[in-house]
Amino acid sequence: MLKVRFKKRHLLEIKSLTKDEIETIIETARSMREVLSRPIKKVPALRGKTVVNLFFEPSTRTRTSFELAAKALSADVVNFAAQTSSVVKGETLLDTVKNIEAMNADIIVIRHSAEGSPHFLAERTKASIVNAGDGAHEHPTQALLDLLTLLDHKKRVDGLLIAIVGDILHSRVARSGIYCWKKMGAHVRVIGPPTLMPRFIEELGVEVYSDLKEGLKDVDVVYTLRIQLERQKGSFFPNLSEYSSIYAITPETIKYAKKDAVVMHPGPVNRDVELFAEVADSPRSLILNQVTNGVAVRMAVLYLIAGGKA
Ligand code: CP
Repeated sequence: MLKVRFKKRHLLEIKSLTKDEIETIIETARSMREVLSRPIKKVPALRGKTVVNLFFEPSTRTRTSFELAAKALSADVVNFAAQTSSVVKGETLLDTVKNIEAMNADIIVIRHSAEGSPHFLAERTKASIVNAGDGAHEHPTQALLDLLTLLDHKKRVDGLLIAIVGDILHSRVARSGIYCWKKMGAHVRVIGPPTLMPRFIEELGVEVYSDLKEGLKDVDVVYTLRIQLERQKGSFFPNLSEYSSIYAITPETIKYAKKDAVVMHPGPVNRDVELFAEVADSPRSLILNQVTNGVAVRMAVLYLIAGGKA
């Protein structure tokens, strides 16, 4: 039995988690995987609790896996669709959450385009808040499921060389990943056009490359990012085919990385834009392993913030 090391009531970001807390979530997720391997994939850990999925942005993987995770823990689950709610009549985010809280929600999982919105709510509600992605800020459960997936395949993260390729500027996945991998001892590179690189990104302790071939040299992990057209207010590159011709991970460009390098992507993949189908569907791709691990990691997070013992 592990000692209890997780005291947080919310999961808002990776930045403020300790290595010990991250390891506790990963160890708990491994126990949850054992639950998910049983013929009856259910435990009563959250029986009587209500989890509300409050998604103001589209999602396939995150929303579905939070729902599966909550149900596997025997929680009651409500999926709130912003498009058919009173948000369209002008109700504010805080009023929306206060009203959901008034119906005795215990945990609110929120995805919102406003950076910092989960933190804002955590200070103003009694329910536990889980950040399922806030603007270009953080996507903590994505980083945790990526870590579990990498540990499954490489057995360690300490000392690995990880390259994140693409639209770093708009990516909450990149930011959470950088915090997580650095805390676990990995070396992280970011590769992309200078226009898609946040200012002062070096301050996060990463190496910055604009040349794909140089950046991929000797890397153990190629983490490809989607070009986020929905967040691009300016013109960051001439067009998608030009971006792709320089930065796509293809059967040719993947050869710049280590021979046994694995390929990851948070999804959804823009096939043949940032990642070619031959690589996305190859044995070195961990994309669907990431998705599978999302359920166990989200079970672990819900269980721990609800006060479960690690
Ligand atoms: N990785 C991820 O957040 O995917 P969804 O947008 O489908 O949830």
